[in-house]
Amino acid sequence: MNKKNAELKIGDKVYEFPIIGGTESEYAIDISSLRSKTGFVTIDKGFKNTGSTESGITFIDGEKGILRYRGYDIDELAQKSNFLEVAYLLIYGELPKTEDYNVWKDNIVKHTLVHEDVKSILDGFPSNSHPMGVLSSLVSSLTAFYPKSLDPNRSSDEINGTIKRILAKLPTIAAWSYRKRLRLPVVYPKNELDYCSNFLNMMFSMPSEDYEINPIHAEALDKLLILHADHEQNCSTATVRVVGSSHASIYASVSAGINALWGPKHGGANQGVIEMLEMIKEDNCDYKKYIAKSKDKNDDFRLMGFGHRVYKNFDPRAKIIKNIASDVLNSLGVNDPVLDIAQELEAIALKDDYFVSRKLYPNVDFYSGIIYKALNIPVQMFTVMFALGRLPGWLAQWKEMRENNEPIGRPRQIYTGATKREFVSLRNR
Ligand code: CMC
Repeated sequence: MNKKNAELKIGDKVYEFPIIGGTESEYAIDISSLRSKTGFVTIDKGFKNTGSTESGITFIDGEKGILRYRGYDIDELAQKSNFLEVAYLLIYGELPKTEDYNVWKDNIVKHTLVHEDVKSILDGFPSNSHPMGVLSSLVSSLTAFYPKSLDPNRSSDEINGTIKRILAKLPTIAAWSYRKRLRLPVVYPKNELDYCSNFLNMMFSMPSEDYEINPIHAEALDKLLILHADHEQNCSTATVRVVGSSHASIYASVSAGINALWGPKHGGANQGVIEMLEMIKEDNCDYKKYIAKSKDKNDDFRLMGFGHRVYKNFDPRAKIIKNIASDVLNSLGVNDPVLDIAQELEAIALKDDYFVSRKLYPNVDFYSGIIYKALNIPVQMFTVMFALGRLPGWLAQWKEMRENNEPIGRPRQIYTGATKREFVSLRNR
């Protein structure tokens, strides 16, 4: 292959398109001049082969099971770093120096409180509202409290202010959306606590009892957030970039990302996994039945937490999470039969030709729910936890997209509807 150009032959005519390469030897055919040169567009439903951007944030090699944030391997970051440091790395491109990290952390801690009127909006939701809906609505409502955030020409200092504010406030809003479901009074943030301890305190502290934060819980949560922090151009991140490309604000773009994450094929799968494992437990662990259902094309059931658009070997996050799950359960002395069911199901699926031939492996969501359960986080909050983790990635990608001055996201289509026809008025139909 001539690595500089690709040729496309339509009829007798040959067109040339430049080939562009990344730093990890990935190549793309740049078709930005395709329509003007040929009159054709491309169709790629689900964007399975389409690179929407060039990005310097996250590298994934799905065949080799590699995931790196800004060049650093995910397992090294999960072992040696913490969530706020990783957030800084993703958003600003480099690990912070000690002084920068301290300022960053202090700034985030300072902004954890949300306006009292946010509580009134929260009060308007029915108590059985799904916390993801509450989360996205309240994030969107922050535009009303910070109207300057709507200005598309904000300075980078002002944008950095919004970035810190939303990182600080999302755990507060998330914990409050959970308290709302239980009809419990909200707990205000305690700024002397670290990011994850503060979140746990706002979730579980009770007015009449002293709540002691278990450091194993806080540490496990911190690692889970790191593992979720970015994953290049997935459904929710692509949404954040497309919404932001219209010059919508950070709050509006992140709110859209939260909604995109909610679906069971994306972040909602972690809730789906536990519901599936509980269902299998209730059904006398009839694994065969559920494996058969997931393979049946006439049945909508899928093995939740299995398969990935990019990973065709293993999901490196799933490997780390599986180890954290058994460590957390052991150290807390929790014996959850659901972990045994998950391990058994994984072992059966990995020997089954259907899953092997399609390269379907456990993904990040397969074991994360088991840890959340051990941390007493209710099932409906699982996807909210994913959103807390993914926030730095959304912010980094939004910032990169705006700094690169990317054009508004606006795909083409091939129209397949009716051709021109005459309107017949109602009385003559
Ligand atoms: N159970 C059974 N069959 C499956 C599964 C599954 N979990 N996942 C994929 N397949 C089959 C699918 O039916 C198809 O078979 P065939 O070629 O015979 O038509 C083949 O595998 C390829 O699947 P696909 O749906 O074309 O692949 P995709 O890249 O469009 O979808 C996915 C990826 C993650 C949406 C899909 O694997 C899935 O629905 N998994 C279950 C939900 C899940 O765990 N989602 C979380 C993803 S990881 C967290 C995140 O980043 O969001």
